[in-house]
Amino acid sequence: MKALILAGGMGTRLRPLTFSTPKPLLPLLDRPMVMHIIDSLPDEVDTVVLAVSYMKDLLEDHFRDHDCGRRVVLVNEEEPLGTGGAIRNVRQHLDDTFLCFNGDIVSSLDLRDLLSFHRRHGGIGTLSLWRVPDPAAFGVVGLDGDQIIDFQEKPAPGTAISDLINAGVYVFQPELLDHIPPGVVSLERQVFPKVLEKGLHGYRFHGYWVDCGTPESYLRAQSELLEHGRSSTRATRMEGSKVIGPNYLDGANLSGCVIGPHVCALPGSSVSEGSLVERSVLMQGASVGKGCVVRDCLLGPGASVGDGESVQGRVLAELQ
Ligand code: GDD
Ligand code: MG
Repeated sequence: MKALILAGGMGTRLRPLTFSTPKPLLPLLDRPMVMHIIDSLPDEVDTVVLAVSYMKDLLEDHFRDHDCGRRVVLVNEEEPLGTGGAIRNVRQHLDDTFLCFNGDIVSSLDLRDLLSFHRRHGGIGTLSLWRVPDPAAFGVVGLDGDQIIDFQEKPAPGTAISDLINAGVYVFQPELLDHIPPGVVSLERQVFPKVLEKGLHGYRFHGYWVDCGTPESYLRAQSELLEHGRSSTRATRMEGSKVIGPNYLDGANLSGCVIGPHVCALPGSSVSEGSLVERSVLMQGASVGKGCVVRDCLLGPGASVGDGESVQGRVLAELQ
C-alpha cells in the first residue's frame, strides 16, 4: 500500500522558521514533524510518496540521509498545485487504495482502524473527522450517519454547518483522480463537494489531534506528545536547575534556571541563571540569557533571547 503525504505548503504561518526549514522538517521533540506520520504507518504501507514543492531540496537531503525503512518517492511541483493538484501530480504512483495525509498533522488516530472502516463502508474515500469548538479555520463536514453529505472549506464565521472538521488524514480510491482537473486545484474546495455522491464517509476518533500549522498549535502538538508519554531527558547538564513536568531535554545546557512544563530543548541549546522557560521549543543552539522569562515561544536554530528579556508567544529565528 502507498501513503501520500502532502508536504509542499509554504508554512507561512510559521515564519520566520519556515524561511530556512520546510514545515514538515521542523522538529517536534525527537524527530521532524513528517516523521511522526511516517513512523505511525501500518506495516502494509511499503511506499511513502511525498508531494513536495517549497524547499524540496532540504526534503530530498533528509530522506537521502535518513533511512525510514520504507521506499520514499519525492514528487516535485515546479509551482505549488494546491492539495488536489498535488494528488493528481503523483497519479502514476497511485494504482490502489491509498492513505493520504496533510503533512502537518499530529494525532492519536489509529490508521489500521481507519483503513478497516474504509473497507467496510466502501465509496470513493473516507475522511477522518475531529470535533473542535471553533471550526472556522478548517474544513467542515455535514454528516448523515457515516456519510458526508456536505463539505465547507473554512466557512465564514457563524456559517459552519457542524463542529466536525476534516482532520486531514484520508483513505482514497484511485477513482478520486478522475475528479481532479489539471492545474492548481484545491482538494477541499473543488473536489470534495463534487464527489459527495460517490460515497465519501466520515471516521470519528478520540484521543488527540493537532494541525501544527501555527505557532500556537505547534506548541499544543508538543504538549500533547509530552502528556502522552514522549518526555525524555538525556545528555543534558542541569546544574542547579529546577525541572517541572514533562519535557524533552536532549543535549541542552541548563544552568540555575527553571524549566517546564512542556519544554523541548534540543542539542546545543542553553538557558542561563535565573531564567524561566515554559511551554516552548529551543531548537539546536538556541540560547536564553540570564534572568529571562520565555513562555509559549518557538526559538529556531541559533536564535537567542538576551539577558533580562521577557518574551511570550514569539517565533524567533537567528539574527542574520
Ligand atoms: N504538494 C503540495 N502542494 N502540498 C501542499 C500544497 C501544494 O500546493 N498546499 C498545501 N500543501 C500541503 C501542506 O504542506 C500541508 O501539509 C497540507 O497540504 C495542508 O495544507 P495547509 O496549508 O496546512 O492547510 P490548512 O491547515 O489551512 O487546511 C487543511 O487542513 C485542515 C486540517 O488540519 C484542510 O485540509 C482543511 O480542510 C483541514 O480541516
Ligand atoms: Mg495545516
